[in-house]
Amino acid sequence: MLNGAFGNKSSTLMTEYASLLGDAVLRHRARIAEQSARVEAELASKIKSEFIANMSHELRTPLNTIIGFSKLLTDHNRRKLPDADIVEYATLINDAAGHLLSVINDILDISKIQSGKYTLDSREVSIEEIIQACTNSFRLMASEAGVTLAPKIAFDLPMARGDSIKLRQIFTNIISNAIKFTPRGGTVTIDAMRANTGGVTVLVRDTGVGMSADEVAIALTPFGQVDGGRTRWREGTGLGLPIAKALVDLHGGEIEIRSRKGEGTEVAIVLPSRNTVLTVATNEPQSAQSARTL
Ligand SMILES: Nc1ncnc2c1ncn2[C@@H]1O[C@H](COP(=O)(O)OP(=O)(O)OP(=O)(O)O)[C@@H](O)[C@H]1O
Ligand SMILES: [Mg+2]
Repeated sequence: MLNGAFGNKSSTLMTEYASLLGDAVLRHRARIAEQSARVEAELASKIKSEFIANMSHELRTPLNTIIGFSKLLTDHNRRKLPDADIVEYATLINDAAGHLLSVINDILDISKIQSGKYTLDSREVSIEEIIQACTNSFRLMASEAGVTLAPKIAFDLPMARGDSIKLRQIFTNIISNAIKFTPRGGTVTIDAMRANTGGVTVLVRDTGVGMSADEVAIALTPFGQVDGGRTRWREGTGLGLPIAKALVDLHGGEIEIRSRKGEGTEVAIVLPSRNTVLTVATNEPQSAQSARTL
């Protein structure tokens, strides 16, 4: 049994020891919190720098083309450019300006979508015509990339109700990704069919680089790019997919991404039956071939 001065001394020591231990634990916790805050801040700063570098690249490249080639054109009187060169420079300026406009439009779109101020037109639209137009506009890009483009439209595809410009934007984004992230020799198939629920399903499949589940989540985040650092191997701002998803949502539809690293990606876009109108009357025989290629 403790008694007298020894007991008091020991309890004072215990109190002091407990308080030192408590301070040490608090200091340790503070150090850990500080470390993880630093790691988070470094990560945020890395993502921010990558984003700024990518965005300035996306804005500067077309601007440099516009400035450079328009300067050459202003020298025409002195240099007497051949007609073919004038046409080539004007085409390059036009393409660069179009690209710049689409980057700016994407930035405005995502901020409008995020502020909830986005309205859609609702008309009867032909998904077949939209896919046909998209496919035609990508033929050159696909052939330059050495990628086969294979669209297939079901004969009994219903008309849809929606905003044709926005629907085209959705398919443009998804098909451009499929081509962009598929190495030479690969294939991109576009299958449009009647959904089980009566709506329309469009499947865009590629045999490209694919993504892991975590990477799909990054890809769906505004400005998120799977390979956002210096090793980035394709152009873009990382807005196409989140905009496409938001536009499908606004149409009351769903978008699902199934992907495997190194094996390819399948993006399924389902527009619901309440957004489709009566099936287009078709006299096509119900043969074994239930779809046509474009
Ligand atoms: N089909 C695909 N195969 C592999 N990776 C893909 C595919 N689609 C998207 N990704 C990945 O997701 C990222 C985000 O795609 P998203 O379309 O949002 O942006 P982006 O194509 O890089 O640029 P933007 O569409 O704005 O020009 C891409 O950078 C790419 O890393
Ligand atoms: Mg894209």
